[in-house]
Amino acid sequence: MEIIIQPTPAAATTIAARLVARLIREKPAAVLGLATGGTMEPLYRELVALKLDWSRLTTFNLDEYVGISPQHPQSYHHFMWEKLFGQVNISDQNVNLPDGLAQDVPATCEHYERKIFSAGGLDLQLLGIGTHGHIGFNEPTSSLASRTRIKTLTPQTRQDNARFFGSVEAVPHHVITMGIGTILESRHCLLLAFGKKKARAIAEAVEGPITAMNPASALQLHPKVTVFLDEEAAGELKLTDYYRWVYAQKPDWQKI
Ligand code: GLP
Repeated sequence: MEIIIQPTPAAATTIAARLVARLIREKPAAVLGLATGGTMEPLYRELVALKLDWSRLTTFNLDEYVGISPQHPQSYHHFMWEKLFGQVNISDQNVNLPDGLAQDVPATCEHYERKIFSAGGLDLQLLGIGTHGHIGFNEPTSSLASRTRIKTLTPQTRQDNARFFGSVEAVPHHVITMGIGTILESRHCLLLAFGKKKARAIAEAVEGPITAMNPASALQLHPKVTVFLDEEAAGELKLTDYYRWVYAQKPDWQKI
């Protein structure tokens, strides 16, 4: 794992945006795995401002709530069209999100996996992290080999996401999420985490043992993960001096 610690979320986001933009320029028909959540909003704003060509890209989002329509203001469909897809020249048939209204949930999940495979697999996967280490909606105790499937949210996640829905009661109980096994097959994972409330989850994920109790710790098994942190989210890491040293000493050809 490469750990990039920046003074502010904005500085870290700019570097992450540069990495995504580089892939889009070098591989115009790339397959992107996208994420939602407050952490991603400034990243999408930066990508929109860069005026990249999205016309040949294909995207797959990590997750969606079950039982709310794509038009619902808190659906991840709505989030993605508002914050990103509606502002770039992506072709709507290249946009993929799990279908939260599917009648046959296992079939729709299998279909999603097959579609990712047929598209050639994910070149890059964006990830945020939950306060207890979830990636996508893979809650603690998720199988580290899991594929796209239905999950039941923990009370903690429903509480964390209540700010978007107005009340905790309005947050759905069920979601469809790519599995940890799905995420681990992407060619490059970019994990962004900012603020004190993510510090514990980050320390466990980066420096703790690999455990289903912190699903993001499974990323230690992935050969190419870049973690973007601000000082607060890096606050509980032990080897911060080393991570800063590594970043400062990067050979020119590795610079972002
Ligand atoms: C949400 C999403 C995750 C996201 C995480 C953090 O519930 N399902 O994909 O990474 O929680 O969200 P935020 O960036 O708002 O802190």
